[in-house]
Amino acid sequence: MTANNRHNAVFLETFGCQMNELDSELVMGALRALGYAFVCEPKLAGVILYNTCSVRDLAEQKVRSRLGELAVRKRKEPDLVVGVLGCMAERDSASMLHKFPAVDIMCGPGELDKLPGLLDNAVRTRRSLAGNAAPGDESWMRSARQVALQGDASRRSGTLSAAGDTLELLDLSRSVSPIDHTGSAYVRITRGCNKFCTYCVVPRTRGAEMHRPPDHIVDECKRLADSGVIEITLLGQTVNHYCFEHGAAVSMKGVTQPQKGRTYKGGHAREVHVGERVTTFANLLHRIHEEVPGIKRLRFVTSYPRDFGDDVLQVMRDSPRMCRYLHCPVQSGSDVVLKRMNRGYSSGDYLEFVNRARAMLHEPGKGRPLSIAGDIIVGFCGETDEDFEKTKNLLRQVKFKNNFIFKYSPRPGTTAFEKLPDDVPESVKRRRCNELLALQQTISDDVGQSYVGNTVDVFVQGLSATETKRAKRAEAKKMSNGGVALTIGGQDVSEEAHDSCGTDCGCATTTVASDSGASSAIQLTSRTDGDLIVVFDCPSDTAPDAMIGRIVTTRITSAKGITLQGEML
Ligand code: SAH
Ligand code: SF4
Ligand code: F3S
Repeated sequence: MTANNRHNAVFLETFGCQMNELDSELVMGALRALGYAFVCEPKLAGVILYNTCSVRDLAEQKVRSRLGELAVRKRKEPDLVVGVLGCMAERDSASMLHKFPAVDIMCGPGELDKLPGLLDNAVRTRRSLAGNAAPGDESWMRSARQVALQGDASRRSGTLSAAGDTLELLDLSRSVSPIDHTGSAYVRITRGCNKFCTYCVVPRTRGAEMHRPPDHIVDECKRLADSGVIEITLLGQTVNHYCFEHGAAVSMKGVTQPQKGRTYKGGHAREVHVGERVTTFANLLHRIHEEVPGIKRLRFVTSYPRDFGDDVLQVMRDSPRMCRYLHCPVQSGSDVVLKRMNRGYSSGDYLEFVNRARAMLHEPGKGRPLSIAGDIIVGFCGETDEDFEKTKNLLRQVKFKNNFIFKYSPRPGTTAFEKLPDDVPESVKRRRCNELLALQQTISDDVGQSYVGNTVDVFVQGLSATETKRAKRAEAKKMSNGGVALTIGGQDVSEEAHDSCGTDCGCATTTVASDSGASSAIQLTSRTDGDLIVVFDCPSDTAPDAMIGRIVTTRITSAKGITLQGEML
């Protein structure tokens, strides 16, 4: 890579949730359109961006340590541009700007449409100031900084926020091309969150809940399907609260702006009155399913256990291309803890929902079991051994496919941080976390075993983890013998291969069928529509590349936890 194109070479690292993954994809599209190229090694880049997460302290620590390391590099390369994007920028900008002089750009998740402008300014300003500075003088660095944050504006009413919401333009400008995906894509349906769970930073970083216009969402799904995407995951913090009120929309430069959906009242679907023009979540799912037949799998995350209406379950039941999968975090099995978390439901409410959903959707005999995944926080303020036992009981009753289990991490600015003592010792949090992981493992083992002997359709994602490791080892051996770079199934299998690409980390280097040195078939990884992993051998007469992004039928031969071994039929 030459010094000239290094200025336009960007390294982008993404932390946190699927929302951030989608944001990064949109940012990459916007910057590529302006002539930036993406590289997969920070050392090759003239611009380094971190798309950050604030949900737990650990996620933030990783970024802080990256920024600390960059300070050293920046002394040697004063025109290097460093940007912090996402939730951490929004949550902690003042202290970060103070502590990390290496940072040039701060851009919150609600302002990402402004990033191309900020980056352009930062690149130009740094280059010109760096060129004119006296040797050893670093005082100019702070004056080259570019900042776009929502601050208090993020929590204006949904309608006011919608009026100023230029971020919709970022989603609308999504560039969709067949080479950019592996058959699967995220589509945002809501932004922000209004729930204010006492432990959670998201409502403060992502702002007020807003719902995208259904026409925009359906159009985006159509464009993705036209480019070859067959699996879409709809995204939102509480997707089932989606409710777009037509007519109240604000029009800006010909673009319909999203509106705040009303909160559902009561335990079931929102009542829609005659003459009222709203698109509910159930309506939206039905529209996408019917209007975009190219989408063979439609799923959504994350569901909120309250206000999940029968209307949504009915659409799921009656729509053959909708996945039988719910990611619906319960957080705790203790009603006292749930109340302290401000979740607004009890463990009984959660069980009522799960039973209702299973009664409507669980059809293991037809090869379509409903699988339910969740999140749990252990060691939240005041959690006793008795509370924790209740969480274990709930896990046993619900038989979750899997749970993401987190130790409570106090987040500045949240109600829990301000008002509730973090009184569960770290050692107890760790013990509870390990106990729960062990319990979940036994439940996941049972769920996995229930698939053995079944025939299931799977969506092929790429090489299995074992295959990737095997290919990397073979690659290292080959490189040491002066061989050529290797990519299998369009997937990067060698850091060296990326090192040598030097232009854009789509990394479309030569594809070869197999050169792993082993005689056995290439192993692929795939997912059932209930989100279980299925590993199977690629047929010897088919290139792995040709399998990725396809749905194929397999028979499950064995299971280890929720990783199933299958054979293609
Ligand atoms: N909107 C989703 C969750 C988004 S955050 C929902 O309400 O279910 C993803 C997960 O991070 C949460 O489900 C929760 O389990 C975890 N989490 C959030 N804040 C946390 C904190 N302060 N400490 C530990 N885990 C946390
Ligand atoms: Fe956070 Fe609660 Fe909103 Fe989920 S629903 S993002 S946990 S505040
Ligand atoms: Fe993290 Fe922000 Fe997502 S805090 S979990 S990146 S919404």
